[in-house]
Amino acid sequence: MLIVENLRVNYGAINAIKGITLLVPQGSIVTLIGANGAGKTTTLRAISNIIKSSEGSKVLYDSKDITNYPAHKIVEMGLCQVPEGRLIFANLTVKENLEMGAYLRKDKQNFSKDYEFIYSIFPRLKERIKQPGGTLSGGEQQMLAISRALMAKPKMLLLDEPSLGIAPLLTKTIFEKIAEINKTLGMTILLVEQNANLALSVASYGYVLETGEIILEGPAKELESNPEVRKAYLGEA
Ligand SMILES: Nc1ncnc2c1ncn2[C@@H]1O[C@H](COP(=O)(O)OP(=O)(O)OP(=O)(O)O)[C@@H](O)[C@H]1O
Ligand SMILES: [Mg+2]
Repeated sequence: MLIVENLRVNYGAINAIKGITLLVPQGSIVTLIGANGAGKTTTLRAISNIIKSSEGSKVLYDSKDITNYPAHKIVEMGLCQVPEGRLIFANLTVKENLEMGAYLRKDKQNFSKDYEFIYSIFPRLKERIKQPGGTLSGGEQQMLAISRALMAKPKMLLLDEPSLGIAPLLTKTIFEKIAEINKTLGMTILLVEQNANLALSVASYGYVLETGEIILEGPAKELESNPEVRKAYLGEA
């Protein structure tokens, strides 16, 4: 579904991404884990062409070379990003935020089905439809950000650190829901995370990013038991 080949990104003289290659098969959850500043957000932004990658980088989505497509076109093709820090509309209600997610869609008659699905996954949002987005808790805002992306009817989701700044109990719920969205809708997901434990628990395959390079990759189960990963990311000495 998504093939990233030899992706390079420079910020001026800084090589933030140094030629990485990733594969996300249709219907799977693949995770890209790495510490602060490893280049996770940069990778997602380059895939969506929000920032430009260097000459020679290649991004194939749904068998099309989208490397030079404008960002809005990529969203229209169904590749949607849930950005780091969520960026929901603080002054709009939960319902209005969800409507914003669907603004490119023309099939308004189908919306009610999608709201039903979202409310079944995140009942908390249903209880808060009239509440301004900015008054939701961090975890609820993350639920809203994911739901808003779902309202665009994407084929694939790019999730940037959904666990960021959220209490452990709620994080667990959110990751269970991510797995449920993948299973129920067959949604392909590239999940960027610093929390390797959680990410590897829902993903089938993982890549470890360190200062712009993939230093390790493998089936999630193997990475979970890999001593290097356990030491660097799972808090073991
Ligand atoms: N606009 C920019 N200009 C210059 N350097 C940047 C810019 N954005 C990111 N960087 C640098 O690129 C590197 C990778 O940053 P990036 O945001 O991709 O990391 P990350 O893995 O998402 O980290 P975090 O877990 O903290 O979100 C960092 O060293 C950062 O300082
Ligand atoms: Mg980031």
